[in-house]
Amino acid sequence: MDKIEFLKLGKQPIANRFLDQGDISNEFFYDLNVGLDKDTGLVTQMDYVDAPLMFNKEYAYRGSMSKTMVNHFASFSLSVAEILPANAKILEIGSNDGVFLKNWNSENAIAVEPCGNFAKETNELGYKTYNEFWTKELSERIVEEHGKMDFIFAANCICHIPNLDETFSAVRETLNDDGIFVFEDPSLARMLVLNSYDQIYDEHPHIFSVSALKNILARNDLNIVKVDELTVHGGSNRIWVKKSTNAQIDPSVEYNLDLEKSINILDLSTMKSFADRVQKSKEDLLYILNMFKQQGKKVISYGATSKSTTVFNYCGINTDFIDYITDTTPEKQNKVSPGMHIPIISPEDGFNNSVDYAYLGAWNFSEEIKKKESSFTGKFITHVPTVRLL
Ligand code: TMP
Repeated sequence: MDKIEFLKLGKQPIANRFLDQGDISNEFFYDLNVGLDKDTGLVTQMDYVDAPLMFNKEYAYRGSMSKTMVNHFASFSLSVAEILPANAKILEIGSNDGVFLKNWNSENAIAVEPCGNFAKETNELGYKTYNEFWTKELSERIVEEHGKMDFIFAANCICHIPNLDETFSAVRETLNDDGIFVFEDPSLARMLVLNSYDQIYDEHPHIFSVSALKNILARNDLNIVKVDELTVHGGSNRIWVKKSTNAQIDPSVEYNLDLEKSINILDLSTMKSFADRVQKSKEDLLYILNMFKQQGKKVISYGATSKSTTVFNYCGINTDFIDYITDTTPEKQNKVSPGMHIPIISPEDGFNNSVDYAYLGAWNFSEEIKKKESSFTGKFITHVPTVRLL
C-alpha cells in the first residue's frame, strides 16, 4: 500500500492487554501512526502490530458483557434467519464468546476464533470453532470439511485484519454462489462526525468508509448490495456483500456513497482537519482534568475500554488524574490499564456517590449506562463529540 501519514497518536500499548502489577516492566509499546492509502482511500495504520500479540488466549474483550450487544445480535439473527434457506450453513469469522453464534443451531453454525479462551468456550457449547486466524489456507480446509457456506458473518473483526485482499478473496471462495457475506465495523464517517479518534487502536488497523470498501471488494470480485447504519460501537456500518454482479442493489449503498462524497471522505485534506480536531480534543480533556485535580475532586473512569487505552496514552492521563477505572468484566478487574497502569476494580467496589466525575470510557454505551446509574450524583465526562459533562 502507498500510504500518506496524517495523524500521530503517540506510543501506545496493546489496547486490550490488562496487566498484573508484575507485568508492567516488560510491556510492549508501538508508535500509533495513521495514514490514507492513495489507491483505495482506506484509512489505515502506517505499521501493523503482529496479530498474535493482540489475539491470544488472554484476550479480555467479551461481547456478551453488554446487554446492548446481546440484543443487537439476537435481533439481527432473527431477521437473517427469515431470509436464509432452512438449515443454511453459517460461518462466523471472529466469534468471540459466542454472542452471535448462540442464536444459531450448532449443527449448522461453525466459527473461526484465534483467541484460545473463547474458541474453547464455543467449542464446549457445541459450535465447531477453529482456533486459528482467518486465512486462505484455513478457508480451503473449511470448504473441504463443511462445503461452501450460505451465510458468512463477521462483527468487529474484518477491520482487525491487515491483509484485506486475502481476507475477502478467501470469503469469496468459501461462499455459495448465491450466499451472503455480512460484516460490521466502526464507520469512518461516524468517527469523523463524533471526533472519536479512540476508535483507532492496535486492533483496528483500518477504519472503514463504504467508499474505500467498495474499491477493495471490487478488486476481489465482491459487490456491496446493502449498507445498514448501526448505533453500536459508537456508529458502525453493516455491509452486505454478494458475489453476483447481477444482484439487486439496495438504495442504501448509493445513499452512503453520496453522503461520504459530500464530506470528501477519500481526501487527505479531510483527514488532516480531523487530526487538528483530535489535537484540540486532547488539550480540552487535559484542561478539565487539571481543573478537577486542582479542585481536589474525585475523578474515576467508567469502562476499561480499548478506546480509553488510546485516549489515556495519547493524552498522558494516568493516576495523577484518574484514581481508578471500574469495569464489569471479571478478566479486567484487579489488573491495571494498558500503558498508564490505572487500577481497575468492579463497579460494586468503586462506583458510588463519593465519585465527583466519571470519564465515560464506554461512551458508546452511554444510554445503557446513564439508565443503569440513574442514582449517580456525580457527572460523567465525555470527549465525544467534544469534551463536556453529561
Ligand atoms: P467496548 O466499548 O470496547 O465495547 O467495551 C466496553 C467495556 O465497558 C467492557 O469492558 C465492559 C464495560 N462496561 C461496564 O463496565 N459497565 C457497563 O455498564 C457497560 C455497558 C460496559
